Amino acid sequence: MPDAPTPSTPSPKNVVVLASGSGTLLQALLDAPDPKPFRVAAAGSDLASCGALDRAVAAGVPTFTCRVADHADRTAWNVALSAAVGAHAPDLVVLAGFMKLLAPAFLRAFDNKVINAHPSLLPAFPGMHAPADALGHGVKLTGCTVFLVDAGVDAGPIVAQRAVPVADDDDVTTLHERIKVVERSLLVDVVTALTAAPYSVHGRKVVLGWPTS
Ligand code: GAR
Repeated sequence: MPDAPTPSTPSPKNVVVLASGSGTLLQALLDAPDPKPFRVAAAGSDLASCGALDRAVAAGVPTFTCRVADHADRTAWNVALSAAVGAHAPDLVVLAGFMKLLAPAFLRAFDNKVINAHPSLLPAFPGMHAPADALGHGVKLTGCTVFLVDAGVDAGPIVAQRAVPVADDDDVTTLHERIKVVERSLLVDVVTALTAAPYSVHGRKVVLGWPTS
């Protein structure tokens, strides 16, 4: 008698990562152990070179660059970036230290499929200097947030957050590095959750079909 067929594993979902920095968040996604429900299909940047692109090349992941300076205006850049991302058929687009704002021309192409990692407990301290702003305010607890990107600045529906205590002797570098340790594992857990099972968005509430920890 022939063996019963083994249940087929669903093929991993395509994740496209956009980054502008050293790329340790991207590296955490690349290093997430198999089997996992996603694969990094490509990594792109607004810069011609950065640590994140180097990490992708080292992992054998296709890369692309889409520079604002090479386009007539921000709208044209958003359209070109969405075409470059779309060429890799993403199920999820992950902003992992991507230091440019995305316009509706980009977001419309990937409705509720773009997430961003941010080094504070949003809605506290949006913007480019979250760890410095948290220190400047004297908070005792900060952390990291992964959220769905909308047209606002660090304002979209929150997917998951984790807290990080502020130490009395923290400076911006030490605090941001401790946040990033937690942020890397949060991002892997969120990308796993969003690609392992369907999720839904009800106004500002994101409901996951898979736990994040
Ligand atoms: C991360 O802390 C990420 O949240 C932050 O840049 C860092 C990237 O680290 N992004 C922002 O502040 C966006 N507003 P990495 O280059 O080591 O992955």
